[in-house]
Amino acid sequence: MVKPKIALVGGGQIGNAIAHLAALRELGDVVMFDIKEGLAEGKCLDIAEAAPIANFDVQLRGDSDIGCIAGADIIVVTAGVPRKPGMSREDLIEINARIMVTVAEGIKTHAPDAIVIVLSNPLDAMVTLCQKLTGFPVERVMGMAGVLDSARFASFIAWELGVSVRDVNALVLGGHGDAMVPIVRFANVNGIPALELLERKYGSAEKARQVMAELVERTQNAGGEVVDLLKTGSAFISPATSAISMVEAVIHDQKRLLPVCAMLSGQYGVSGYYVGVPCILGAGGIEKIVEFDLTDDEQSLLDHSVAEVKKLVDSLPI
Ligand code: 2OP
Repeated sequence: MVKPKIALVGGGQIGNAIAHLAALRELGDVVMFDIKEGLAEGKCLDIAEAAPIANFDVQLRGDSDIGCIAGADIIVVTAGVPRKPGMSREDLIEINARIMVTVAEGIKTHAPDAIVIVLSNPLDAMVTLCQKLTGFPVERVMGMAGVLDSARFASFIAWELGVSVRDVNALVLGGHGDAMVPIVRFANVNGIPALELLERKYGSAEKARQVMAELVERTQNAGGEVVDLLKTGSAFISPATSAISMVEAVIHDQKRLLPVCAMLSGQYGVSGYYVGVPCILGAGGIEKIVEFDLTDDEQSLLDHSVAEVKKLVDSLPI
């Protein structure tokens, strides 16, 4: 059987981590494009030379010519500038939109049948632009944000309750900005509501709600928390790991239900915008957008997040 071809557009920290994870899991042969001469070649060579020790057998190749993505089955776009302390994701819109124009053109020309996962920020705008410029069907162009935001929410809940992260389920919907919507009602530890466990821990429903509100706020600001600590860029291992779970879902046709930034056509009261919602991911890309009833409070939080996404998308310079 022919191995899947995974193309990474962008050889920065996240692209590098994705290449490494894809190789370790032998998800397919990896090509990495970066405009900077030698960067992608060097990073791929470095990972490839670890193969005999780490015991993986896939090909890794870097190139500064975007033609290297030709025939890719799946493309992960991380190209763009990451934020620095004091910057919001939105501050990156002009520069990263210009980069996306070239990237989308390359994808359209060289890999017209690929499924595309965008990570570049501001995510909701960049994925919109990528879909518009490639003209690919919406089920083949998606953004990664919800998997990461949900993982962060789950981590904070696990640490607070002193339980294994393996047993926590958490879901974050909406845009990939500070108005994202962690769904507190569904946060649970092996089915037991996290809020109830917090109430037992603190002996007060009010205190439980207050602690949960802090976990929600930390989740909404989690990207910025890492940026402030690193000072030179943004998170990379957790975004790369999140992207890999989506790549794996597509390559292995897993039909996973994951929060994905998807183009909505009426679901959750939204039409014509990319928003993070639960989707079934499989070989066809986004195979289904999954709907469930939100409470009035959740719907108004989602509406607020969507309003932020609309503002962002409508401010796209292209
Ligand atoms: C984050 O939230 C990079 O947007 C990404 O860390």
